[in-house]
Amino acid sequence: MFARNTARALTAPSARLFSSSSARQTKVTVLGAGGGIGQPLSLLLKLDPLVSNLSLYDIRGAPGVAADVSHVDTHSEVNGYAMENLDAALEGTKVVVIPAGVPRKPGMTRDDLFNTNASIVRDLAAAVGRVAPTAHILVISNPVNSTVPIVAATLEKAGVFDPTRLFGVTTLDVVRASRFLASVSGSTPSECDVPVVGGHSGPTIVPLLSQVAKGKGLQGETYDKLIQRIQFGGDEVVKAKDGAGSATLSMAYAGAKFTNSLLRGLNGEKGVITPTFVKSPLFADKGIDFFSSPVELGVNGVEKIHPIGPLSAEEEKLLEACLPELKKNIEKGKAFVA
Ligand code: NAI
Repeated sequence: MFARNTARALTAPSARLFSSSSARQTKVTVLGAGGGIGQPLSLLLKLDPLVSNLSLYDIRGAPGVAADVSHVDTHSEVNGYAMENLDAALEGTKVVVIPAGVPRKPGMTRDDLFNTNASIVRDLAAAVGRVAPTAHILVISNPVNSTVPIVAATLEKAGVFDPTRLFGVTTLDVVRASRFLASVSGSTPSECDVPVVGGHSGPTIVPLLSQVAKGKGLQGETYDKLIQRIQFGGDEVVKAKDGAGSATLSMAYAGAKFTNSLLRGLNGEKGVITPTFVKSPLFADKGIDFFSSPVELGVNGVEKIHPIGPLSAEEEKLLEACLPELKKNIEKGKAFVA
């Protein structure tokens, strides 16, 4: 699923993260670059050969992160921008990654973050729409099921929404599914590319283990436990960090990995397919117009939205539980902007 043929040509450990088959280079902006995700994400993007210019913005701390990261001896230029310089950070950018906002504390759901993060994401989206209306926007800030519709509605209001350029980053669910299935099946993550569809929170996360050789035979308690772990893997980290936040390092990895996939697609590489939460026709007849399924990324961003494929009886049940919750989350986001 992540273009392993190209990746094999690179040396470990970066091979699983970055793959570059083309020389074209791009300016990438991180909004929220001073945070727990933003800092390691900025470092990983500095290592991506497809990034020519890295623009780091936060309401606090971005110039310091930029000065630090800029000393890493890769070819890209790095600039840091303080609060009053958002427009300058976005000028001429092709890709905007947004991890700005507050993370969960123990006992919180992602939806509990809505009140704080909805307005942060809306205001940043409005700025992108004004300064860089043709940029591709990658939303990490939670709750993703609502923040992506918020970005869409905000851009729509400004008359610049293009559904081929908006992505909710659900890659961490895919990364977790791959890692956890490898443990359970005694294989390697590279043999366990699990498509994860739906949304990005608890029951809206639907891993399709039946579509992977290593996952297809799992049953009973082993199957149930693995599904539970993939759906609620974020809680493991929140609990272990004990009040100090949620996943930051694995999320930075996942964010850099998805950004690299998009950049490869934008540069003309064929066959770059990965799950991501986009405006989607798959369940539009049920009133659900955003959904994550494997998406082919190309020169315009979203090239092709693939269907979810055949489901096992268990997966049908997971999807049934996902849809009403996802619908509620999407409507909440839309209502916020309306
Ligand atoms: P953090 O609190 O460590 O960092 C957030 C950063 O955003 C801070 O540096 C803060 O100053 C900045 N910020 C706040 N308002 C801003 C604004 N208006 N403009 C620019 N920057 C602003 O939080 P962390 O751990 O980095 O998490 C960030 C978000 O990512 C949270 O909403 C979290 O729930 C989400 N997340 C998403 C995941 C996913 O799979 N999509 C996985 C893990 C976390």
